[in-house]
Amino acid sequence: MTELAYINGKILPIKDAVVSIEDRGYQFGDAVYEFIASYDGKMFWLEAHLDRLIRSMSELSFPVISRSFLKDEIYRLYDKADISRAGIYIQISRGIAKRNHAFGNKMVPQLVMTIRPVSEVSPALKENGVKVITMEDFRWGRCDIKTVQLLPNVLAKQKAVKAGVYDTIFISREKIVREASSSNLFAVIGNKIFTHPLTRHILEGITRKVIFEICGRLNYEIEERFFDLDLLYGAKEVFLSGTVTEILPVIKIDDKFVGKGQPGPKARAIFKALRACTKDS
Ligand code: PDD
Repeated sequence: MTELAYINGKILPIKDAVVSIEDRGYQFGDAVYEFIASYDGKMFWLEAHLDRLIRSMSELSFPVISRSFLKDEIYRLYDKADISRAGIYIQISRGIAKRNHAFGNKMVPQLVMTIRPVSEVSPALKENGVKVITMEDFRWGRCDIKTVQLLPNVLAKQKAVKAGVYDTIFISREKIVREASSSNLFAVIGNKIFTHPLTRHILEGITRKVIFEICGRLNYEIEERFFDLDLLYGAKEVFLSGTVTEILPVIKIDDKFVGKGQPGPKARAIFKALRACTKDS
């Protein structure tokens, strides 16, 4: 088991991996990324992560990198590191150039990766649930693209840490509930599970996709629809989803308890089903 970095084909220790100061990812946030986790030596939903990575690059008019090349390189790093429960960070920047906002057509994308054991959310939080706060969404208008421009997400998470809670939920100016700083959000309202539709204001999480499949199997009614903060405050259950988050029950939002202030049965059942399907992905 070895923590490793990858830079444009070279695999080396993370501490030795350096990139150019003129990488556009560094100077402009002109880069996209993915974060993939493995369970018991198998990467979870790799194909879906590749789909999203390729879409992110295409939405930003990056030069095309072939899917099979990306997949081979991810496997090369993954096999070499041999970490059973790994977190693989993949970043592709548009390229390296003299600083200039506009980009030419001679860009050579830079592919970098790291692999380490996943920093798990503590089992106690998964079991007992977390508290969150809310704030107005001040991100850009293309949150559907997974770019490294994460400053609003960073500040939102830091605000939560400062407030002694787990995370911050982004709410639109019209009070529509969007997502958390690095997770999607689901709310059980009545007997249905609601989550924000796929617009440019949220990321299409891979775990979110898995949850739709699981809900089909468990016969849970799930619906993509806009819902506001008042409905969220009154939800029976709320939970977050993400590659690292997995399924994380939310028990308090701002100063209001969710339901009885304890994780609910739907979040628990979905979490159990998610863990079960990591074995056959
Ligand atoms: N973040 N929404 C946002 C804004 C995210 O950053 C993420 C993931 C998600 C959930 O997506 P997924 O289920 O594919 O992990 C939703 C990753 C883990 C990160 O930034 O490291």
